[in-house]
Amino acid sequence: MASAVSSLSAGSGNERFNAEAANWDKNPFVHEASKEAATAIVKQFPALKNRPAGHQLDVLEIGCGTGLLSCLLAPHAGRYVAVDAAQGMIDVLQSKLDKSEAPPNIIPVAVLLEDPEDKNLPPANEQEPDGKRLKVDLITSHLVLHHIEDLKSVLKTMLGCLKDGGSLALTDFQDTGPESKSFHPQSRMGGVERHGIHAETMEALMNEVGFVNARVTPAWSMDKTVEKFEGEFGEDPRSRKPDQGVVRSFPFVLCTGERAFCQTSDKS
Ligand SMILES: C[S@@+](CC[C@H](N)C(=O)[O-])C[C@H]1O[C@@H](n2cnc3c(N)ncnc32)[C@H](O)[C@@H]1O
Repeated sequence: MASAVSSLSAGSGNERFNAEAANWDKNPFVHEASKEAATAIVKQFPALKNRPAGHQLDVLEIGCGTGLLSCLLAPHAGRYVAVDAAQGMIDVLQSKLDKSEAPPNIIPVAVLLEDPEDKNLPPANEQEPDGKRLKVDLITSHLVLHHIEDLKSVLKTMLGCLKDGGSLALTDFQDTGPESKSFHPQSRMGGVERHGIHAETMEALMNEVGFVNARVTPAWSMDKTVEKFEGEFGEDPRSRKPDQGVVRSFPFVLCTGERAFCQTSDKS
């Protein structure tokens, strides 16, 4: 299985997210966006909520950050493996999981996921800790794809993490043209590989990698205060002045696709 080349392995993105981890949850936008993502994912996969205890779907979230989406979806899931390449993000998630009200089924893992058989992932069989890794029913990610340099490789990794018949539910903002660049302020461009997801390109890529029923559909839109000109917010967008910025609406997409039953080999 080829490995995913992520911009994070080059260092800049990872440093950025380690540095931002402690303050990540102070941004109301990320809470709002995760709630919208959870709603869109549950609507698309009602089985997440409808399974009886003991038969819930096992979920893998790639790029869980501080676990905002994880904590919303995990109460409906079986095992919820929450992976992030930034140790700082996983440390914040772990501090939430240490509280008694936290979902008990979240398994936090600090790893840049490039290999479905990565030994940091939980084993398929607890009795064989060094054996094959867990395969899941559903893979989620939110606001992550635009940070990944080689989407084809990460999609191959995702295919390898799914059970036969398992599904993808990936959300991110949409690339609608040059105006999408304003989603990130200039000081937060580190690790940004593309300005949103281009629906047709992503759908074609999922098909190429071997997903069936690959679709990229509009999911929701959100207002965001963005820079009127590059660099307007300076180094810290949170301390922008009231007269700075302009409100723009950003559409988000939901990328879905399935691993075929009896998938024998992945397309390269
Ligand atoms: C913009 S943040 C989003 C975090 C979270 N999903 C949220 O919405 O609050 C992107 C996260 O993806 C992680 N990431 C990107 N590529 C990854 C990979 N291949 N494996 C694990 N984590 C990855 C980064 O470390 C970063 O924390």
